Amino acid sequence: MKVLITGGAGFIGSNIVHYWLDNYPKDIVINLDALKYSGNLDNLRDIEKSPKYKFYHSDISRYDEIEPIFKQGVDVVVNFAAQTHVDRSLYEPNEFINSNIIGTRNLLEACLKYQVKRFHQISTDEVFGDLAINDKHKFTAETLLNPSNEYAASKASAEMFIMAYLHTHHLPATISNCTNNIGPYQYPEKFVPLAITNILEGKKVPVYGTGKNIRDWIYVIDHCRAIDVILKKGKPGERYLIGSDHREINNIQLLSKIIKVMDIPGDWMEFVTDRPGHDRKYAVDWTKIGKLGWKPKYSLDQSIRLTVEWYMKNTRWWKKIKSGEYRKAYEKIYGKNY
Ligand SMILES: NC(=O)c1ccc[n+]([C@@H]2O[C@H](COP(=O)([O-])OP(=O)(O)OC[C@H]3O[C@@H](n4cnc5c(N)ncnc54)[C@H](O)[C@@H]3O)[C@@H](O)[C@H]2O)c1
Repeated sequence: MKVLITGGAGFIGSNIVHYWLDNYPKDIVINLDALKYSGNLDNLRDIEKSPKYKFYHSDISRYDEIEPIFKQGVDVVVNFAAQTHVDRSLYEPNEFINSNIIGTRNLLEACLKYQVKRFHQISTDEVFGDLAINDKHKFTAETLLNPSNEYAASKASAEMFIMAYLHTHHLPATISNCTNNIGPYQYPEKFVPLAITNILEGKKVPVYGTGKNIRDWIYVIDHCRAIDVILKKGKPGERYLIGSDHREINNIQLLSKIIKVMDIPGDWMEFVTDRPGHDRKYAVDWTKIGKLGWKPKYSLDQSIRLTVEWYMKNTRWWKKIKSGEYRKAYEKIYGKNY
């Protein structure tokens, strides 16, 4: 089988490229990535010469750049390519519209034209908006889209186009909405790698607002396993929510766990002005994918430990990133360089 992964040089994309080559050595994995700021070929050095792997430096928002790849024949497309950082979506929304909406629509068009057997969209639980902190409800596959920031709005818009292609053209598409991921290769602007790398650098960790926002965290390999199950057993036209088994926890509790695992003495938390429209809580009911035989394998403590260990071992990987474009973006978001 030929699997086209878009955004395969990013965090989750590079994890699934590794996962797929390890688990399906007969398959060909094609990685299409525009190498935007979070796309990093260092994530794929170990497999870049594999005869089962091909990389194309292409942009999904340019149909002319993606069509030649489809012409060669592709069986399955999994779309990870996206602009992903909520903070950035507040000041550069056009990047989100181009990659997340126009890019997805281009892929749908190519899938239709070249009769791809399955298009799978990697979406997020953020398309459902947020829950009140004390709300006992969880998002389900029936929850209506209700995005509350530009990132979520662009991902929700992409889903709308998929629904239209399902209805009008019967494109065999599936969607998954996963909760927050942690693990190796995550660009260090996101909360968990930012915290770990700042502490390793002896810098404070900025925590938005009161730090009481609640999230549900999943280890990235559990997300890869879930996608695998959806591609094999999921039904076209369906949406599957992917969550973890952990009690949802707030940012202060999560950071305290990271600090405990790192065991570096210091007063690391620094509360900063909240970002506008910061979602209060996400919680995901993953019963539906559970019925396909998937459940998360990694506990929260294991996920944190594995992630911390990876960043402690791979200082060269993140130091290279933190010395570049990263700094300017951080000054813009936090007003000073943390
Ligand atoms: N990280 C999470 O916690 C999480 C949770 C749920 C869903 N998701 C979704 O998973 C996907 C991957 O997220 P991530 O955290 O790995 O992000 P990431 O920012 O690490 O990676 C995104 C990748 O997409 C590439 N890309 C961006 N625009 C592109 C374009 N126009 N054409 C081709 N490539 C392009 C980037 O170069 C990068 O390699 C996204 O669609 C995101 O919405 C992420």
